[in-house]
Amino acid sequence: PISTLRTNGILPSSGDIQLQTENLASQKMLEPFGGQEDERFGLNSELFNTLKRGTTLVEYSSPNIAKKFHAGHLRSTFIGNFIANLKRSLGNNVIRMNYLGDWGMQFGLLGAGFGQFGCQEKLKQNPLQHLFEVYVQVNKEAERSEDMKQAARDFFRQLEQRDSQAMSLWQQFREITVHEYQHVYKRLGIHFDVYSGESDHQDQAQEVVQQLQSQGLLKTSEKGTGVVDLCPDGDMSSVCTVLRSDGTTLYITRDVAAAIDRKQKYHFDEMIYVTDKSQANHFHQLFQILLSMGHSWAERCQHVPFGLVQGMKTRTGEVVFLEDVLNEARTRMLDNMSQSKTTKEMENPEDTAEKVGISALIVQDFKGPLLSDYKFDWDRMLQAQGDTGVFLQYTHARLCRSVNEGIEAAAFDPSLLLEQTTITILQHLLRYDEVLYQSAQDLQPKHLVNFLLKLCHLIASAHRQLPVKGSPRDVAQARLRLFSRACSVLANGMRILGITPVDKM
Ligand code: ARG
Repeated sequence: PISTLRTNGILPSSGDIQLQTENLASQKMLEPFGGQEDERFGLNSELFNTLKRGTTLVEYSSPNIAKKFHAGHLRSTFIGNFIANLKRSLGNNVIRMNYLGDWGMQFGLLGAGFGQFGCQEKLKQNPLQHLFEVYVQVNKEAERSEDMKQAARDFFRQLEQRDSQAMSLWQQFREITVHEYQHVYKRLGIHFDVYSGESDHQDQAQEVVQQLQSQGLLKTSEKGTGVVDLCPDGDMSSVCTVLRSDGTTLYITRDVAAAIDRKQKYHFDEMIYVTDKSQANHFHQLFQILLSMGHSWAERCQHVPFGLVQGMKTRTGEVVFLEDVLNEARTRMLDNMSQSKTTKEMENPEDTAEKVGISALIVQDFKGPLLSDYKFDWDRMLQAQGDTGVFLQYTHARLCRSVNEGIEAAAFDPSLLLEQTTITILQHLLRYDEVLYQSAQDLQPKHLVNFLLKLCHLIASAHRQLPVKGSPRDVAQARLRLFSRACSVLANGMRILGITPVDKM
């Protein structure tokens, strides 16, 4: 618990800051501080040296090829990235994985439909859009035509048998999709160490079925499907289907195989899956199957569920592609910024608008408990005042401006920092490590978001109460030191959230 860490001197306690100047100096609170590249994201106390570390595999984003990239995928992308950054900041080795929905009946439909509705030219120009169009069309067609359905089944069978022509079309769909996504992830400042997918685990999924069989865990249901009974001793038997009657495997079977494969390849100490809460039962079953097969490491696998987002819309209607959301955030932000004088002096206002727009999306998403649903609201999230990502960015840019203009490297006199406002800010800054520790316990970003928002409110009043311009030089220098420290903590915290701080706004 946090209190023990405090008494052992691993985490600082707010009481550590006394009004005496020696104490301020001894806290090293105001010394220049780790730069942007600091892998520790500014973690400062003994905590970093005390934590047990290991390899964490975080699987997130995981969209489905040719289907909609819905709000759930956006949340998974943000949350997973945050968890990966957080784990990294606490010294873990982190593997960031994207697990694509790149197998299953939708490829039968897509493959069969592409012959009829597809166009290689359009596919090259706007791949995600075109694949989605074809997918929608072929689904409609399949609803009314038995022939189309049959064609889809045939195509999927060819895929399962690794027919080279079918495979090469599938390969093309997959490659261009990944390429497009990489472009959008780059805009978000997100990268993945591994792109994997359901297709990678076809054969292994069949092996899993055999293993379940030989371990006596597989039963045949009345319908002829292969099932695992998850609580054989319980009154109510709860079964999970792992094999269809036609011998093909399912989403869960592939997940069992994928987990075993990841453990072998990456030797992770813990694995975290980030999806919306509708899949909670799926992951519960997955971990149970793994445990019953004797994989005790499944104890250290975890699903981080999150709630639904309502009403994610752009000006042109419902959101289908991630890129539309990012474009809309940028356009709206650019509109809001166009009034300001600084925008006119900017070299690349689009780039700033993009970064600030993305921070607005992230803060909106992270403010509450992850499990809660929330209503997507462009106007609210983009407000410059109030608890928004725009406010974080604005405060950061303002801090940067004053610090860059005036700070000198020379020694400063901490005894000039005795106002209550200053003490409150220093006490707040001291909580940074504790907040990260707390976030790591429950993997909820709200602790860090609220900590940073509070810091920005404190800074806003400090800017009024502790002017730099017009103060005697030594007082100005001491205050700038405080602002500089606040600026680094803010920047580091923002980076853990997945936000790129801007210097000008
Ligand atoms: N592609 C899935 C979806 O869009 C999410 C995958 C989650 N990860 C997993 N290992 N099952 O719903």
